[in-house]
Amino acid sequence: MLRTFWHYLGETQPRLLRVIHILIAVLVVAQIINSNATQLDAITDVSAGLLVFLSTWMHIIAGSILVILGFAILFYVLALRGFRYYFAWLLGDFSGIIADLRTLAKFRLPETAPGGIPATVQGLGIGALLLVALSGATGVALYLMGYTVGFNVIHWHKFLTGLIEVYIFAHGAMGLLHFGLRQFMPVKRE
Ligand code: HEM
Ligand code: HEM
Repeated sequence: MLRTFWHYLGETQPRLLRVIHILIAVLVVAQIINSNATQLDAITDVSAGLLVFLSTWMHIIAGSILVILGFAILFYVLALRGFRYYFAWLLGDFSGIIADLRTLAKFRLPETAPGGIPATVQGLGIGALLLVALSGATGVALYLMGYTVGFNVIHWHKFLTGLIEVYIFAHGAMGLLHFGLRQFMPVKRE
């Protein structure tokens, strides 16, 4: 099943993009789970407990990798498909979204197309990932430089994580639904 999913992704994504994409998905879920045992001041203070100390550092190391992977996927997909593919709405072009809404109104799932709903959501997802990862990195950098405002930035970091949680549920579920429908109910679609 995993192999079939890998090949399914391969229909639209080159191998390197698939590798980056899967690494991001796994690391983001790991960050959300591991963040239950993080604490900002545990970076420099083990008294909160060894688990919290190690967990916080693991979160920072994996998070820093996500900053790099976030920029990697952004530049990769922009080079692959162009700005308009994901961000047509920013150029005032809503035609792809409207076409997809029409398809949805017929109770059909729209296929991914330039400027359409899936591509728009994917563009926003990369934005959410970068916002979350960069706010975490900024908060930690400020804290390490001795600025208490680092705590406020980390508050924003926690708040912004909500965006990526919504995204992972929605985009992940739609991705798996698409895959499942094609796999188990291969009906002719427009
Ligand atoms: C997509 C990547 C990331 C996700 C999903 C994520 C998620 C979270 C969440 C949900 C919390 C809140 C934990 C709580 O409620 O106490 C948190 C806390 C934290 N994050 Fe991240 N994070 C990410 C990346 C980063 C990065 C890149 C850094 C720094 C380099 C970082 C540093 C921290 C720190 C230090 C805390 C502890 C704050 C505290 O508990 O007081 N995070 N993260
Ligand atoms: C924060 C985590 C994630 C990010 C930033 C992300 C980002 C992206 C991006 C940018 C694309 C479009 C790539 C392209 O144009 O070829 C994409 C496609 C896809 N993603 Fe994710 N993704 C994440 C998590 C997930 C998860 C957890 C799943 C499933 C379990 C998933 C399943 C898919 C599928 C099936 C596609 C192909 C859909 C299509 O062809 O339009 N993604 N993802």
